[in-house]
Amino acid sequence: MSELSGYGDGTRSVRAGEDPAVPGAPLRPSPVFAAPFHLGDQPPNGAVDFYARTGQPTLRVFEDAVGELDGGRCLSFATGMAALTAAVLACARSGDRVVLPSDGYYATRLLAAEELTRFGIEVQYVPTPEIGRVAADGGLAGASMVLLETPSNPQLDVCDIAAVATAAHAAGALVAVDNTTATPLGQRPLALGADMTVGSDTKALTGHSDVLLGHVSVTDDALYARVKGFRDRTGGTPGPFEAWLGHRSMSTLDLRLARQAANAAAVVELLAGHPAVSNLRWPWRPEDPSFALASRQMLRPNGVVSLELADEAAVSRLLGASRLWAAATSFGGVHSTIDRRAQWGGDDVPAGFVRLSCGIEDTADLVADLRGALDRL
Ligand SMILES: Cc1ncc(COP(=O)(O)O)c(C=O)c1O
Repeated sequence: MSELSGYGDGTRSVRAGEDPAVPGAPLRPSPVFAAPFHLGDQPPNGAVDFYARTGQPTLRVFEDAVGELDGGRCLSFATGMAALTAAVLACARSGDRVVLPSDGYYATRLLAAEELTRFGIEVQYVPTPEIGRVAADGGLAGASMVLLETPSNPQLDVCDIAAVATAAHAAGALVAVDNTTATPLGQRPLALGADMTVGSDTKALTGHSDVLLGHVSVTDDALYARVKGFRDRTGGTPGPFEAWLGHRSMSTLDLRLARQAANAAAVVELLAGHPAVSNLRWPWRPEDPSFALASRQMLRPNGVVSLELADEAAVSRLLGASRLWAAATSFGGVHSTIDRRAQWGGDDVPAGFVRLSCGIEDTADLVADLRGALDRL
């Protein structure tokens, strides 16, 4: 049990990773910019830093903070994809079968198709809404790892982490969860039975659209050593500036998520009644297919919404008529953004499908801007 476990999300976001106060020390340590560190007259024995790819003080502070929120031990990576690659490749070997979401982040499927299969790893794709049934029917037999992404990006389907983890463990498979959309405050996969929780911290965890980061958190020490060894050898370690920026940014995670979720609730109300919108998805809308499971499994809502407009031209007109909603990929940042997913060619979605990421602007401003733009369609 960590020292912060009795506190609320705001307190934990600010205080995670911090050491006890020392008079004269800064409230938040400054980054230590070093690649090599001074050596003594003996080889380093693990007690001191010697080379920043394998360990450095600023990264440790950030990892302690993220691990605190995840309820595990964190290893930070230069990007979310570096973290996902480490989670899979630190554990899978040639001849293994890895189960992935067929509807998750498309670069994860590219990683599987272009890289994992080259190393003789078999990949089985299962849609997020179906993985619970596949697991219950024994469909994970012979798999070595199951990667879940819940809520899935971009269609926001949710699967039952605890149920899949139980079935996967019975089949002898490890379970990793891409927790990017939820963030460590929104869902705690390790407490639900997953072996690894993985995140693109480029998204809401850091939330200012100015840094790339990712992480893997685990509870098992042997698994930690395996992922750490993979990172040391393949070199996906973030530098001190990113680590410091990540720690500084996550202090406001609770506040940002609260505003993003409030904005999403208001935006969803507008969208639900608008004739130009179909297939609206937000897991915290009672009518949403994900609502029951999300309410049971997740700890709080966030600002990511998806929907369909008539076609590509309708999305262009919407963006052209809006002042506050920026066209940008990625999500979870302080700016409100719209991403037409079909333009990237990786998701099986119609041309007018968009993912909205509600930022932290004023709710009334965002709603008025979006209403005006929608009414012009
Ligand atoms: C769900 C999910 N996982 C992983 C990633 C990859 O993260 P990064 O862009 O930081 O490599 C993304 C990026 O969009 C994502 O949405």
